[in-house]
Amino acid sequence: MMTNDKIYFVANWKMFGLLNSVDRINKVINLSKKRTFKNIKIVYCPPITILSTFANKIKNKNIKLGAQNIYHIENFGSYTGNVNAKMIKDIGATYVILGHSESRKDGDNDNIINKKIQIALGEKIKVIFCIGENLIERKKKRTSVVLKKQIFNALKGIKNIKNIIFAYEPVWSIGTGKILKPKDLYHDIKNIKTIIRKKYKSNKIKILYGGSVNPKNIKDFKKVTNLSGFLIGGASQDQNKFIDIINKTFN
Ligand code: PGA
Repeated sequence: MMTNDKIYFVANWKMFGLLNSVDRINKVINLSKKRTFKNIKIVYCPPITILSTFANKIKNKNIKLGAQNIYHIENFGSYTGNVNAKMIKDIGATYVILGHSESRKDGDNDNIINKKIQIALGEKIKVIFCIGENLIERKKKRTSVVLKKQIFNALKGIKNIKNIIFAYEPVWSIGTGKILKPKDLYHDIKNIKTIIRKKYKSNKIKILYGGSVNPKNIKDFKKVTNLSGFLIGGASQDQNKFIDIINKTFN
């Protein structure tokens, strides 16, 4: 892992969790009080219904809060069933996941994701921007082309990427247990950085990996030295597993 910067552990709870689920982060809160925690950044992204409960729970703690999506309209209005960036910010979210493959499946395309990124950044919310190829694209060796398109389209008109954290999530790896070999992942991350650098001069590009990260395979992932952390779905709902992943990343 990169050692100088903080390593991110983003917990994506997806559509899981009820009010009483917040007690499932007690051990993580204890961990965040330890001195060794200074190298770690934890961001919880629970469903919108318990965002506010989470916000109270982690108040004055070393843990950040994120939403799993926002609507593509900046202002308030008659958009039944939706929530905008101002609303999640108001509750205490300082991050938002955008472009997740499950949101793309639900209708988010590059153009909409672009709008959402602009709106989030405008509200000073940090963006966790997900990209990734599906299995057919991988097999056809189109991964690089697909990622390039996702990146350039979604970042159209965006001048500064300092508040964007990229998350490489091969779609075929999400929730399946299938993962890349460390050296292949290293290569893919390197390639993504090269693509981003074609447009942005930044030397501080942060890329997380997401897809079936668990306490068993983390020892392989930690070998991938060009990563800045992980976006964790299933395993993040079990605090013992989540903590195990964090500990094993450093030991
Ligand atoms: P997973 O999900 O860890 O359950 O594979 C990752 C994600 O979808 O962000």
